[in-house]
Amino acid sequence: MTTNTTQSVLDINPTDHVAHLSSLDYVNNHLTMEQVNLTKVAEQFGTPTYIYSKNAILQAYQAYDKAFGAVEHQICYAVKANSNLAVLQLLAQAGAGFDLVTGGELARVLKAGGDPSKIVFSGLGKTESDIETALNAQIACFNVESESELHRISKVAQRLGKTAPISLRVNPDVDAKTHPYISTGLKENKFGVSHDDALRVYKIAKDLPNLEIVGIDCHIGSQLTEVQPFVDALDKVIELIHQLKQQDIVLKHIDLGGGLGVRYTNETPVAVADFANALLPKLQDLGLKVYLEPGRSIVANAGVLLTKVDILKPTEHKNFAVVDGAMNDLIRPTLYESVMAVIPTNLSNAKNIDKKQWDIVGTICETGDFLAKNRVLSLSEGDVLAITGAGAYGFTMSSNYNSRPRACELLVDGENVHFIRERETVESLWEREQML
Ligand code: LLP
Repeated sequence: MTTNTTQSVLDINPTDHVAHLSSLDYVNNHLTMEQVNLTKVAEQFGTPTYIYSKNAILQAYQAYDKAFGAVEHQICYAVKANSNLAVLQLLAQAGAGFDLVTGGELARVLKAGGDPSKIVFSGLGKTESDIETALNAQIACFNVESESELHRISKVAQRLGKTAPISLRVNPDVDAKTHPYISTGLKENKFGVSHDDALRVYKIAKDLPNLEIVGIDCHIGSQLTEVQPFVDALDKVIELIHQLKQQDIVLKHIDLGGGLGVRYTNETPVAVADFANALLPKLQDLGLKVYLEPGRSIVANAGVLLTKVDILKPTEHKNFAVVDGAMNDLIRPTLYESVMAVIPTNLSNAKNIDKKQWDIVGTICETGDFLAKNRVLSLSEGDVLAITGAGAYGFTMSSNYNSRPRACELLVDGENVHFIRERETVESLWEREQML
């Protein structure tokens, strides 16, 4: 058999793998989330299905809240990672604020009962109408990404007779050492105002009407597994804070963005407590309120995607397990070549079947339609597989490509399963279309 050069062969021990995940366990050979048997969930609700653990989401949020307890802080969950209303509601009730990038996300957060005074609004292209809605809702801060945007916010605020709280998103030119598509803090990236230009743009903000400078912000990338890039970015931001002070621009807060990585297979990301401890001495010296915008590290490992093996297709060159989930449900493996763990929900199925090397693929007409490559598994048709780490950037990045209805979403709370999004129907896919 030829091996694929882009992803090495991976033989994951399911029980060892779940030992690192707080919400998952094998009980009598069956994968469970909290107290819920996931094979049964697949039978009852069908597949593909996203399922999240309430407890794991809250634990991850509380770990941040606790780790930064030594400074005044606000954790603003990055909505893009998982924007289901129930997930937002859960976090809002736990005291989280929110980081948004669109008017759509703002509407969702308000609908879910999020507190506007804990909202920061990032994003490169806020429209006048987004700005108006956010000003009317009285959000905590606009994270501004360009000089032009400053003028736009000032104009809308003048029209409404309001003052817009703003901070500049500074691009510190630090290498986040992550996948190039999710690295944001380098000079060549489209995000933020360059470190060298920030002082000039802050001075413009100071002179523009109806703006109040309240903070400074940076976000250097996602799925960072080392702490040093965060420390380097913080140092650069602190340097700017001192320069701003000399210009009589005094800030109230510093926002360090999100980006902390998680363990998908064998990464060794920094624990939240260690991340906090590396930054806290410098933050305590500053005496500013600290904002953070974690997304992935709150929800990724609280969720799995359940998918059923539909057809096994061993060939001379490669073995394909065709499943009912596909790249439209979970695009991370295709888009970032990310390696996510695939484990069976029922270990006893596997006992009498030889292990083989499989590519786990969907039915979409693209060679790039795979969920995993070169996985050593004992598979039979009808088996249910769980793709772990799928709670972040899973459902939110899903699409209807090949006219595939999107998966349903469930939330586990102890032994209860809440239905938090219905599976789409095929008919719903053309609801907004019109024939001639
Ligand atoms: N704040 C800002 C301004 C961001 O752009 C992002 C993510 C976050 C916070 C949250 O970062 P996190 O804590 O989740 O790393 N779709 C990609 C990830 C894209 C991240 C974009 N920005 C993936 O699936 O890996």
